[in-house]
Amino acid sequence: MNASHRERVLRADKQHLWHPYTAMDRYIDETHPLVVARAAGSRLYDLDGRSFIDGNASWWTALLGHNHPRLTAALCAQATELCHTSLGGITHEGAALFAEELVRVAPPGLSKVFFTDNGSTAVEAAIKLCVQYWAQNGAPERTRFVSLKGAFHGETLGVSALGGMSEFRAPFAPLLFPCAHLASPADGLEVALAELERELEQHGACTAAIVLEPLVQGASGMRIYPPVYLVRARELADAYGVLLVFDEVFTGYGRTGRMWAADHGAVVPDVLCSAKGLSGGLLPFAATLTTERIFEGFLGGDSRTFFYGHTFAGNPLGARVAREVLAIYRDEGILENVGAKARRLREGFAKLSELDQVENVRTLGMVAALDLVGGSGYLERSGWRVYEEALKRGAYVRPLGQVVYLTPPLNIPDADLDELLEIVRASVLAGASG
Ligand SMILES: Cc1ncc(COP(=O)(O)O)c(C=O)c1O
Repeated sequence: MNASHRERVLRADKQHLWHPYTAMDRYIDETHPLVVARAAGSRLYDLDGRSFIDGNASWWTALLGHNHPRLTAALCAQATELCHTSLGGITHEGAALFAEELVRVAPPGLSKVFFTDNGSTAVEAAIKLCVQYWAQNGAPERTRFVSLKGAFHGETLGVSALGGMSEFRAPFAPLLFPCAHLASPADGLEVALAELERELEQHGACTAAIVLEPLVQGASGMRIYPPVYLVRARELADAYGVLLVFDEVFTGYGRTGRMWAADHGAVVPDVLCSAKGLSGGLLPFAATLTTERIFEGFLGGDSRTFFYGHTFAGNPLGARVAREVLAIYRDEGILENVGAKARRLREGFAKLSELDQVENVRTLGMVAALDLVGGSGYLERSGWRVYEEALKRGAYVRPLGQVVYLTPPLNIPDADLDELLEIVRASVLAGASG
């Protein structure tokens, strides 16, 4: 490839582009970023055609790999017919039929679908839905939210209030609504259960909802906890009349080995948020699902309307691709095959656990993580040394502090998965000695 073209791109990038979750001084002065030119399957390709196995499926979205030919074909076909129209009191085929199809694969009882355009807004809509539901259904005092220490639910101010990662909360703390951040079951089940019981005993009557990332707290380090916590949360929510919200933005669509993390405990929340893999990682598209009971709480005249709606909610391109995603799950047996793939990933990480530099290996479905021995926390740099080593070896493995993890596409070919695991092993060894 033409070196001057790369320089041209990087010059524009470094002069004008502000990257998310990126320390920009270090980026501008020290980083030689991967410049992605195209992607296919489980690989990203740079401007020179070098390939990099995408170890995190591009921020956990490309569950079917990149540029699945059926998804790109669906996208192109839709683009020639209808790229966008609003859902404000009118409708279109894609949104209507996808809503029906999503309900069919959702936990039973979640029969109403509200579209937004990313994970944060799927959860933001859930918060507002809960608050407005209580406000107009006889319990306006229910405004308190409960989430977990280490929780991550996205970027908007509303969901930032639910977030339990201090690094992300601190700058905005004065503006965030009060939320009880309880002990996470990922840090100890018994303590977490006791704290949840105590919280609801004391504040259940004024609590709107419990919001959880079911089974895996992703952003705070792939912290995994058992389904019994979800089961108990459902029981306690019912006992105190509190709504239960599952944020399945990361865990949904087979990431944990089942369609929904909720399925591991056969728990049905009152509200379920889905994004990322929902549109195969192609387009910003998200859904907030809920029950007939909550939906009916918004009937009865204009003043009871749900006052919420993003311009691109239910976008026809996203809807068409999202329908095709579900069709591929059926036709290619994605959930049926994910068990074998997850086993391979688990076995690979079991071997990594033998390294002196590694501790606390954990896996669930197509999530696998390890801690590098030493410092910890989101700002810890050890994971980034492994990241740099992995890039040299042909893999993109963005860490979370000291946590090196893999969340590859669910259908990553075995050969790519084995190569990825080998790269992680070599990079951990090289990163530790570097
Ligand atoms: C559990 C969870 N909820 C919400 C979000 C926010 O999604 P988005 O980045 O699409 O706004 C994320 C993003 O990683 C997430 O992991």
